[in-house]
Amino acid sequence: MRIARWTLRSWRMLCESRVLPPVRCCYLSLSASGVGALTRYSAVVGSMARQAEQVARELLQDELPRRWEHVQGVARRAAMASPLFSVDDADLLVAAALLHDIGYVDRLSTARFHPLDGARYLRAQGFPRRLCALVAHHSCAYREAELRGLTADLAEWVDEASDLRDVLWWADMTTTPNGKPTNIDDRIEEIQKRYGPEDLVTFFIRQAKPELVGAVVRTEERLQAAGIGYTAK
Ligand SMILES: [Fe+2]
Repeated sequence: MRIARWTLRSWRMLCESRVLPPVRCCYLSLSASGVGALTRYSAVVGSMARQAEQVARELLQDELPRRWEHVQGVARRAAMASPLFSVDDADLLVAAALLHDIGYVDRLSTARFHPLDGARYLRAQGFPRRLCALVAHHSCAYREAELRGLTADLAEWVDEASDLRDVLWWADMTTTPNGKPTNIDDRIEEIQKRYGPEDLVTFFIRQAKPELVGAVVRTEERLQAAGIGYTAK
């Protein structure tokens, strides 16, 4: 179900007039880095995203500050696309964007594969199964799982292969490691350079590129059709 334009306008008016539900706290804290387009295309982000923001901040801000910048940037991208979805799905999408990389935190890293480690942690914390699955399968994780011999472990969660999942992949693949908007070609090139030619991640991202590009193209078509502007770089 799409959110009607009048609903979004009303929401923006409430934000601007400071007649605010608690969800605005989430917007403000995410916008604090200054890149901050989160309110520009705001949808109603609810309790799951607020909880996700708190968990991600606690896990990432001190231990992995650059990763914290990245996930906030991914959340801003996700929020930009959130008018494509219902209120509940927009909340889920932004929550998944904030939490998708928590598996990099050392104490969570039992399988040494961050989508799986993140999903397992979230399940243990009682987050909804759909959110865990989005994290487990973000950005074509199944291909890296194959290379790491972790396909059976990842199969505990199902990739929903939906428009929402595409948006999560798009948001991740069009956000730099320090949270700035980019395009998918530059993003993939940066990953290959960062890991080096012999690394498994470089091999994975090369293999996954057609599927990642597919999610990005589909999402950008949907954004254009909905009249939602975005900055590709
Ligand atoms: Fe990411």
